[in-house]
Amino acid sequence: MQANPGLTYNPVIMSDQDVHPESLMMSYGYKPELSEGAAKSPIFQTSTFVFKNAASGNAFFELSSGLRELRPNEEAGLMYSRMNNPDVEILEERLKLWDGAEACAIFNSGMAAISTTILNLVRPGDLILYGSPLYGGTDKLMTVTLPEFGIHTVPFRPWESMKEVEQRLKASGFADKLAMIFIESPANPTNALTDIAGCRVLADKYATPGRPVRVVVDNTFLGPLWQHPIKHGADLVLYSATKYIGGHSDLIAGACLGSKLLIKRLKSMRSLLGTIAGPWTSWLMLRSLETLKIRMEEQGRNAEKVAAFLNKHPKVTAVHYLGNLTRKDGAQYRIFRKQCTGKGAMLSFEIKGGRDEAFRFLDSLRLIKQAVSLGSTESLICHPASTTHITVAPDEKKAVGLSDQLVRLSVGVEHPDDLIADIKQALAKVRIGDGLTASLRGGWSAEEGTAQGASLSATGGYARPRGPMYSDFGRTRAASLYCSITCALQPAMRAQANIGVKRSIGIPT
Ligand SMILES: Cc1ncc(COP(=O)(O)O)c(C=O)c1O
Repeated sequence: MQANPGLTYNPVIMSDQDVHPESLMMSYGYKPELSEGAAKSPIFQTSTFVFKNAASGNAFFELSSGLRELRPNEEAGLMYSRMNNPDVEILEERLKLWDGAEACAIFNSGMAAISTTILNLVRPGDLILYGSPLYGGTDKLMTVTLPEFGIHTVPFRPWESMKEVEQRLKASGFADKLAMIFIESPANPTNALTDIAGCRVLADKYATPGRPVRVVVDNTFLGPLWQHPIKHGADLVLYSATKYIGGHSDLIAGACLGSKLLIKRLKSMRSLLGTIAGPWTSWLMLRSLETLKIRMEEQGRNAEKVAAFLNKHPKVTAVHYLGNLTRKDGAQYRIFRKQCTGKGAMLSFEIKGGRDEAFRFLDSLRLIKQAVSLGSTESLICHPASTTHITVAPDEKKAVGLSDQLVRLSVGVEHPDDLIADIKQALAKVRIGDGLTASLRGGWSAEEGTAQGASLSATGGYARPRGPMYSDFGRTRAASLYCSITCALQPAMRAQANIGVKRSIGIPT
């Protein structure tokens, strides 16, 4: 659906040269003469639009409800802000430039974009093959909500070869029902990459005439700047626009980009479900888009410096950052080189120890805010296993490396020296194994806690492993055994041990 005549394009700019998206973020899609000459688009804070006459109102509704197509030289008009609004439409025109998409639909959250897209393209009985990990909300959609609607969902791991992914598909027994391959690449929070072109090949292999298999990529982690999934074969690109696109931690929104045909379908579903963003939110995003590139580039530069510091820190056991990938990482490195145009500004890293050490680190930060969300001007940090990904099944957490020692950092535009100084002083406060808790053996799952906790209680044990000893034992079962036998459990620790003690796991890093 296009805005009223004149509001959609600035044809002078686009007619004869390839202009960079950043040059168009201040102007594209807006005609000042339609708004009293205002240099900037006003906020069209209105729920409804006045028709010129009854016939034009009828024409707009015929078009929006799909009763007929646009006639030559006819332009669709504005009707009601659940269907369209100038701020939304100008934003859609601008946002699509980054991904080179034909069309874009804006939603009132990332989850609204994801759920509207899936509900529109998938039917009960269909199968969605999805890469795991995913953002916790999307994971719950895949594992709980969609199956309740009779939609089959099967996970695969980003590091598996397409052959292995196909084996999972065949083993599901629903290969002939495959309707969508859904991936987050890089995945939240581990930065694991999935081969988009490989997904395209697999999708095409299982598509039949009249039964397409859609490749849908949540590109939130690299934002519109550093990865363009459509160029690698994706049908649709999704964003939590709350993140880099909004960029200031002050709005919630989503976006989906793809072909005109698919986006038209999604917009019609969006009107029914009422999942469009409002004019004020869209106006804020128009403002944000003007600085998207400079914000993201600065964040990326800062992330590189923060990662370099973390890589060398003795209390950090692993840093999951795209800039750390080397040839030795095999397929992940190859995908990175093929698919990504930047390293991003998202890092996740593992604090030596476990949940207590990770919490201690987080609670010691002074400049970096503890909050979920990402991609904003200010740096934000969180503990995914206990927040954004809390509902991910324990076994899945184990399988994909979502350990208790993992923290996720979204690097902002602060001075990098200040960020590093903050991280340094917070890490200094972490004393490995300081105060026994159930989680002192980092990376152990909580679900086996009761049994192990009981064993600690029974021995009356109190483990206080020193740093080197702890790190030697690391994630080994031996450490668990050691603790069980040698512990002299303090009364205050007993309760904790009873809820959360565990044995070791091998976490893929
Ligand atoms: C990768 C990813 N996709 C989707 C979402 C959901 O977006 P929203 O919170 O805007 O609904 C998030 C939220 O954190 C996310 O990280």
